[in-house]
Amino acid sequence: MAVATLLTVVACKPPPDDRTSLSADAAERGRAVIERVSCGSCHVMPGIDWPQGRAGPSLEGFDDVGLIAGALPNTPGNLAAFVRDAPAAKPGSTMPAMPITAAEAQDVAAYLYGMNDE
Ligand code: HEC
Repeated sequence: MAVATLLTVVACKPPPDDRTSLSADAAERGRAVIERVSCGSCHVMPGIDWPQGRAGPSLEGFDDVGLIAGALPNTPGNLAAFVRDAPAAKPGSTMPAMPITAAEAQDVAAYLYGMNDE
């Protein structure tokens, strides 16, 4: 199951922080997914130069937020579920479901957690 798989990835990496230690490969794949489905058409995202839309909240500093979309505890599993199908993860969310697989959603989560580390 998706959450267990992601936690395994985390467990293979050393500290410092179990959220930012997600693999760089996953983050790189996540970046490609983000560009493919144009998350940037609604979000300002560090490392994604185009198109820088404003329909959704800026994701700058996102890895520090306490609750995803003000509703869900900020864990890798919740984030992957939210970015794939926000209305299912948070009833009433105005972010549409995105055409990505569960594995791609985990990679997107890895990118979001890592994007402020450079
Ligand atoms: C059609 C516009 C749109 C697209 C495309 C979109 N989002 Fe969103 N996103 C939103 C809106 C609107 C919200 C606020 C939703 C809410 O509060 O329920 C949001 C919320 C979020 C949040 C929570 C932000 C926070 O501060 O808690 C994350 C993370 C996120 N989106 C990531 C993504 C990713 C990754 C993609 C691409 C896979 C994406 N979004 C595509 C509109 C969009």
